[in-house]
Amino acid sequence: MSGPVEIVEMGPRDGLQNEARLIPAAEKIALVDALSGVGFRRIEVTSFVSPRWVPQMGDAAEVMAGITRRAGVGYMALTPNLKGYEAARAAGADWIAVFASASEGFSRANLNCSISESLERFAPIMAAAHADGVQVRGYVSVVTDCPFEGHVSPRQVTRVAQALHEMGCAEIALGETLGRGRPEAIAAMLDAVGQAVPVAALAAHFHDTSGRALENVDVALEAGVRVFDAAVGGLGGCPYAPGAAGNLATERLAAHLRGRGFDTGLDEARLAEVAEMAAGLKQGEVRA
Ligand code: HMG
Ligand code: MG
Repeated sequence: MSGPVEIVEMGPRDGLQNEARLIPAAEKIALVDALSGVGFRRIEVTSFVSPRWVPQMGDAAEVMAGITRRAGVGYMALTPNLKGYEAARAAGADWIAVFASASEGFSRANLNCSISESLERFAPIMAAAHADGVQVRGYVSVVTDCPFEGHVSPRQVTRVAQALHEMGCAEIALGETLGRGRPEAIAAMLDAVGQAVPVAALAAHFHDTSGRALENVDVALEAGVRVFDAAVGGLGGCPYAPGAAGNLATERLAAHLRGRGFDTGLDEARLAEVAEMAAGLKQGEVRA
């Protein structure tokens, strides 16, 4: 196997949303600006969610306003409802992302509503995005394991992925939120989802709690997936998924893909520098 693979950088959003320390906007802006020089086509910058739910992202508009945009990079923001969408658009997000769950328990914990209510909330976002010409990514969380319900069946994941695809999401990112999914479970889930959504529209989003994320990447590559999410320095987790560790580290994923003959288009030397910056940022040592 060879050819291009896109890595979508999650650090500033999925990474920093879970940091105990409230990181100043200037440090987040410095991180995004450094990432903009690495070669990513998309960087998820922030989320326009309730600051009562995720205080770490309360400075979303300030961060979006402060970054230096680089040609060829799409700056993405997460939006759970129309209020979030409107704020993300006003802030100039190039891509927006809606996020649903494959389990009812996680939907409640993360969005305070059922799966079907969340999908209903996305309908006006999709209409507005279509009118505005903005591309939308749709996440499905807990695609193998849920912190509240245990095993999640491939059928549940397929139902939500298909609904997001049918409502117009250009890409469906499959979130293994807990980072505990085994390769066999990932393979079964991808097999089911791939029968309802074209594999070219799928992205894999693996957290790395159990250290199996790279094995799961290999399973997804085998299934034909060519878009992967990762966070520089392995930053992150999800505040509503107790025990979940960070995303797969971008620098590990990039090296792994290169070793397997794929082309990510990333400058790995620069990426290593940003990984060091991310480590310092976690410890509060970054000068912006
Ligand atoms: P709610 O409490 O049911 O909402 O929360 P509400 O409509 O009753 O509003 C409550 C308050 O929030 C109101 O303010 C609203 O104005 C405000 P008040 O009048 O009380 O002062 N509000 C907002 N403020 C700013 N931006 C908004 C917004 N919406 C309402 N967009 C809600 C429902 C969806 C808002 C809440 O549950 C929420 O914000 N959830 C987001 C949780 C989150 O961000 N989780 C992490 C991201 S998902 C993730 O990490 C998984 C992923 O990485 C994939 C994977 O790993 O699986 C993507
Ligand atoms: Mg995540």
